[in-house]
Amino acid sequence: MNLRIVPIAEEHVPDFHRALDAVARERRFLAFLEAPPLEATRAFIINNIAKNNVQLVALSDSELVGWCDILPKDRPIYAHVGVLGIGILPAFRGRGLGAALIQAALDEASKRGIVRVELTVRAENTRAIALYQKLGFEREGALRDTVLVDGRYEDLVMMANVDRSRARPR
Ligand SMILES: CC(C)(COP(=O)(O)OP(=O)(O)OC[C@H]1O[C@@H](n2cnc3c(N)ncnc32)[C@H](O)[C@@H]1OP(=O)(O)O)[C@@H](O)C(=O)NCCC(=O)NCCS
Repeated sequence: MNLRIVPIAEEHVPDFHRALDAVARERRFLAFLEAPPLEATRAFIINNIAKNNVQLVALSDSELVGWCDILPKDRPIYAHVGVLGIGILPAFRGRGLGAALIQAALDEASKRGIVRVELTVRAENTRAIALYQKLGFEREGALRDTVLVDGRYEDLVMMANVDRSRARPR
């Protein structure tokens, strides 16, 4: 198996959409329960490419099997903040790809002067929380019962990896 992590390109749109939809439909991990429409996803990706935002994909041979993005918040006082999102197809989990994707995305964030990388993760997603902690994310709090899926409430844990040495030189 030949795994590569590369910046997303427009040619990845259909496969990215399929992967996002598959992970969303598991219902346990993401804020989506299905992917947004294909054309909305395309517009989102084209915008990220145009703005040089951090959006990476993992390719196994030519199959898109995962993604990780760190997207800037759009208010001026948050210009140093990025929000991380990640997903990997089930067959490719638990063998280090998540760690590799996040590390690659953090490296790219660093080049863009992103000091604070934040995320929210569903409290029952113990694998993701363990991985984030391993990679320097600290728990900052929880939004209680903010998730409701299939009649079950779940907290949303807030985490961040903050490193002022990633600030752009002035
Ligand atoms: C969360 C996710 C990105 C992690 O990627 P991954 O490739 O599976 O993770 P890795 O193999 O790199 O690392 C897993 C780490 O988590 C921990 N871990 C692995 N399996 C675990 C489990 N079942 N329970 C708790 N922790 C676990 C370990 O700390 C492991 O580190 P180790 O290599 O030192 O043992 C991936 O599982 C995924 O896509 N899940 C579904 C989507 C999702 O949850 N996205 C995040 C939403 S916030």
